[in-house]
Amino acid sequence: MNLPDLKQARLRTDNLPQVLEAKNIKSDKFKGKNYFIRTYGCQMNVHDSEEIKGILENLGFSETEELEQADIVVLNTCAIRENAHDKVFGFLGRLKHLKKENPNLIICIGGCMPQESSVATLLKEKYPFVNIVFGTHNIDDLATLILAESKKQQIEVFSIEGNVYEHMDYVRDSSITAWVNIMYGCDKFCTYCIVPFTRGKQRSRKVKDILNEVQDLKNRGYKEVTLLGQNVNAYGKDLEEDYDFATLLENVAKTNIERIRFVTSHPWDFTDKMIDVIASFPNIMPYIHLPLQSGSSKILKLMGRRYTKEEYITLYNKIKERIPGVSITTDIIVGFPNETEEDFEETLDVVNTCKFDSAFTFIYSPREGTPASLIKDTIPLEVKEERLHKLNDVINSYSLSHNKEYIGKNEEVLVLGPSEKGEDKVYGYTKTMKLVNVSGAKEDIGKLINVHITDAKSFSLDGKKEIFIKN
Ligand code: SAH
Ligand code: SF4
Ligand code: F3S
Repeated sequence: MNLPDLKQARLRTDNLPQVLEAKNIKSDKFKGKNYFIRTYGCQMNVHDSEEIKGILENLGFSETEELEQADIVVLNTCAIRENAHDKVFGFLGRLKHLKKENPNLIICIGGCMPQESSVATLLKEKYPFVNIVFGTHNIDDLATLILAESKKQQIEVFSIEGNVYEHMDYVRDSSITAWVNIMYGCDKFCTYCIVPFTRGKQRSRKVKDILNEVQDLKNRGYKEVTLLGQNVNAYGKDLEEDYDFATLLENVAKTNIERIRFVTSHPWDFTDKMIDVIASFPNIMPYIHLPLQSGSSKILKLMGRRYTKEEYITLYNKIKERIPGVSITTDIIVGFPNETEEDFEETLDVVNTCKFDSAFTFIYSPREGTPASLIKDTIPLEVKEERLHKLNDVINSYSLSHNKEYIGKNEEVLVLGPSEKGEDKVYGYTKTMKLVNVSGAKEDIGKLINVHITDAKSFSLDGKKEIFIKN
């Protein structure tokens, strides 16, 4: 893959995470000014945006949700599929107009897109009104770039992973549930995927730093943490000490924070020990996102996924048997090059066997520089779309039937905020990550409450707060 060479890369000299203390530069230079941030992509980016917000607020900016009120705009971008690119370039068109009205507007582009050399070059040549371009490996440089206030476009993108920073000043979106990075990057190199290029090699954070962060969140009243990584169950494989994800999970559970979940697990790294730990700690949520990608062993091989259809089903059944009430969700790609109708039928077969709680489904999008992009793509778009629709229909019917099983039951729900479904309602999630709109619980935001489930749809449940009357 062509990596950006706009600036000499910061080279890492060993395989261990090089941990640095975050700079957390503070200034009141931009006091009274507003920032607008838009985040695309996965949870990793959502959490990175919390770091970016911390950087901006340390410089004096306050957040605005009105684009027209902004003095600085940051787009935290995603590169996973072509349509992620299209959204960003569409939004840049709007920003170009805005900049004509307000020439002092500072426009910054960060995240995964600038890590692709073609994008960085395009921004340089065709979008000179963008002031600052930074990448995933140097978010910590953003404050310095903004303070430099250069009239020339500043591009700082590193092609090789940078350091792991500890003690960043995050501005978290929630005071109830928090993201906790346990690792950065990915070493799996699935043949279709851009992430190992945009995020670099796997770098696990140190156990003590993760546990301290969770403990601190618990002390500050957080009820839930989500351990984050592209491949969380490979945690520790790059550490010098002998330490794995199951042990980390066990130690996080022992902090007694009310709820713990983790995304994303790779089937290849899923161990029996992990299943035992999840089954034995009530504060580890019985919810697992286990991407399948394809049900055809032939396509899985071409994807470099390292498991067969049969191995996936065996793992799935083992998890279902040993973790009572577990919900399992997945990701599936249709239209990977060489996917025949028979291969697609194999995917439907796995979906019909596993009956997932829900799934994210995608049409394959070739990414420049990945091995799969070199395979000739001969499947017409109409065929891919037809497969996607067919797959979604099957997935949605299973989601609905799983959700219907909840009707009449009482479920513990962590209430996160007001619901869009009515003024008297709040929303939250069950332990199995089912979205519930709850009536009669307006005072309970931030609490774990008991909810009587009254109705079910494909994507959510309805419920009423359960009041216990003691005799
Ligand atoms: N690390 C996670 C998720 C990575 S991205 C994992 O391995 O599961 C989220 C999902 O996007 C992937 O699971 C995959 O289904 C999808 N995806 C990744 N690259 C893609 C591509 N080139 N085209 C279409 N979908 C893709
Ligand atoms: Fe991409 Fe595969 Fe890594 Fe997931 S595990 S981020 S799909 S390379
Ligand atoms: Fe997108 Fe980057 Fe995440 S490519 S899916 S934002 S790691």
